[in-house]
Amino acid sequence: MVNLSKKGKSFLGIKDLSVEEITHLLDFASEFKLNKFKKRNKTPSLEGKRIVNLFLEPSTRTRIAFEVATKSLGADIISIAEKSSSLTKGESLRDTASNIQALGADAIILRHSSPGSAQYLSNLINVPIINAGDGAHEHPSQALLDLFTLREKLGDLRGKRVTILGDILFSRVARSNIWGLIKFGAQVTLAGPSTLVPKKMEEFGVSVSYNLQEAINDAEAIMLLRIQHERQTQTHFPSLEEYSKMFGLKESGCKPGTNTIILHPGPINRGVEIDSNLADSDQSVILDQVSNGVSVRKAILYEYCS
Ligand code: CP
Repeated sequence: MVNLSKKGKSFLGIKDLSVEEITHLLDFASEFKLNKFKKRNKTPSLEGKRIVNLFLEPSTRTRIAFEVATKSLGADIISIAEKSSSLTKGESLRDTASNIQALGADAIILRHSSPGSAQYLSNLINVPIINAGDGAHEHPSQALLDLFTLREKLGDLRGKRVTILGDILFSRVARSNIWGLIKFGAQVTLAGPSTLVPKKMEEFGVSVSYNLQEAINDAEAIMLLRIQHERQTQTHFPSLEEYSKMFGLKESGCKPGTNTIILHPGPINRGVEIDSNLADSDQSVILDQVSNGVSVRKAILYEYCS
């Protein structure tokens, strides 16, 4: 029997998790969502644990979902932002994390702008590091909640057609989802301006299209991505208006099929990657993703930090 236990390990990325490990986390999250533990009178608990949310990049959804998940598991959570920490006085990430550990943290949830920062800390610190997004590298808890939502809405993902649309080049969400969706046998199409879709992506087993209508024609799910202005050092398309015209999802013109579901990790830019009405339509599962993020993070925290 495969040992799926992750206790005391770091949660760094989707790339290195097996289908069995991901399925176990998704099933566990589903038990949290359906409140199955309560019925069995045996709720998983992290009582007595101290978790630190070290968010060195802005966040609404991920930070709050990890806070809600931690609190509902009965653990203490302390949230630290860069501006209120001694990082602004020149302290290194390594020293900051060592001090947090010395202050009694049982796990550190890290969001950082540098790819590999979570892996780096996990090699230096003795408590689990939970990657909450490292630059353009991975955002594994986001991909897990996306897989959870897709599985909930579409069932078995084998053969399901999923289009990831937008700024693929700078997106950690895209990278983690590509790993996850391919592992589960989905047919993935990447679409966006040629300047924002990395070359040779077909080698990963995905299709690439620079034509929006072609990319969304048969899609059962469309995963939209925000333009990551904060990571771009040069202009990749003439203007936001032009981007919206060419690659924005609209109610009229280039529109998704009526049964296609629309995902977005947030924050959404209404009128750029998606029409406002479409974002609020029945086809949109954007807020389901956000809510599912709590159950998924409870599963991650319990599996890695208990
Ligand atoms: N999806 C996501 O990572 O959103 P936040 O930046 O608000 O956490």
